[in-house]
Amino acid sequence: MGYPHKSDPKENVVLSEYFGDAGARTYDGWVERGGYKALKTALGMEPNAVTDIVKQSGLRGRGGAGFPTGLKWSFMPKEKTRAHYLCCNADESEPGTFKDREIMRWTPHALIEGCAIGQYAIGAEVCYIYIRGEFTEPIKVMQAALDAAYANGVLGDNAMGSGKKLDMYIHRGAGAYICGEETALMNSIEGRRGNPRIKPPFPAAAGLFGMPTTINNVETLAAVPHIINRGAEWYSGLSLASEKSSGTKLLSVCGNVRKPGNYEVTMGFPLKELIYDLCGGMPEGRTLKAVIPGGSSVPILTREEAEGCILDYEGCVAAGTMLGSGGVIVFDDSVDMVYQIMRLAKFYAHESCAQCTQCREGTAWTVRILERILAGKGTQDDIDLLLDLADQMTGKTICVLSDSCAVPVVSGITKFRDEFDAYISGAREPVLTHG
Ligand SMILES: Cc1cc2nc3c(=O)[nH]c(=O)nc-3n(C[C@H](O)[C@H](O)[C@H](O)COP(=O)(O)O)c2cc1C
Repeated sequence: MGYPHKSDPKENVVLSEYFGDAGARTYDGWVERGGYKALKTALGMEPNAVTDIVKQSGLRGRGGAGFPTGLKWSFMPKEKTRAHYLCCNADESEPGTFKDREIMRWTPHALIEGCAIGQYAIGAEVCYIYIRGEFTEPIKVMQAALDAAYANGVLGDNAMGSGKKLDMYIHRGAGAYICGEETALMNSIEGRRGNPRIKPPFPAAAGLFGMPTTINNVETLAAVPHIINRGAEWYSGLSLASEKSSGTKLLSVCGNVRKPGNYEVTMGFPLKELIYDLCGGMPEGRTLKAVIPGGSSVPILTREEAEGCILDYEGCVAAGTMLGSGGVIVFDDSVDMVYQIMRLAKFYAHESCAQCTQCREGTAWTVRILERILAGKGTQDDIDLLLDLADQMTGKTICVLSDSCAVPVVSGITKFRDEFDAYISGAREPVLTHG
């Protein structure tokens, strides 16, 4: 995949600067481009000072929840009587999100460097990079980069000559969405079934193998070397709207736009400009109908809401949705929203680990009711039933997979009720024969 649009002045390429540049994948190529300077700097500092810089930068987790990264690191116990671990979450399975795989494909050393800095800051001698099993190319590229980092003394018993031990391993997942949830991810590394754990205890107290653990997303960790090189103030200043959201954000845009792909913009960038200017707008003759701005787990926006939405944590909440993982799914006026919502619900039903009753039963019944409506056999009571089910699936389970299934159903019914009503009244031809 080429990245021709990187030159658009509306973008702010920091993490994606070397996307499309195969030379950046090798150890020598990375060093030529300024790589591993940040790790060297960090290793010369007190670990707490590294955490403080990350805190001051305002970096927030790019995996979905937007939790402040430096604060998360500061939760790790300071005593070193037990092993500490860092897990890099490279499971990337949220529908609509495809940025982490590109960071790994093009700039594997950026991720290794970010992980190593994070490890040092939290006192973890070992880091596991948990990569989705289907990512065969990113896994190959990452493994080659990891081997080169060891061969060049970046990692190992004496990382960059610092006397510190930093080890890193790639762990391949087996393609389960639930293993992206941080506690399921840890169970999976331990060789157990990937079921989420009840919290507390939180990972910083008892995580991987029962030891203090921090879990961070790929994009979060890949931003860290830039923060160390260019300073907390530079990073916190990257903000077009709210000062609570800083830095750049990779947005994976898919669906009905002329130029889908990954775009990196400064926090606070308007969604309207992303869709119409950077992505070239809708296909010929089409108009915008709806947008899911943060991966499939966040509320759907109508055209009006989307055109007024600012892409940062606060702006998305103000528009009634969330920035999530930054997977922007665009729907034009040819799209059947009821069908799309059923497809999303089907994904969650398939991926439920089945541990919690509300999720196991709720996701499956949501699909059956939506299929019934799409088969022309639904009633108005089914709408109430869907909303009631969604209520029972929200805030009642160990993890939020079940909430994520309820979100598009509730926002879909609230905002596109006429499309549901059309199937129920018979005004729209059924599109399914079963249901
Ligand atoms: C069902 C589910 C799936 C998730 N999948 C991912 C994922 O693929 N990648 C990711 O980074 N975070 C995922 N998360 C969020 C993680 O649990 C965790 O919050 C994140 O990795 C923390 O990193 P961050 O603070 O750097 O964002 C998922 C959460 C849930 C509930």
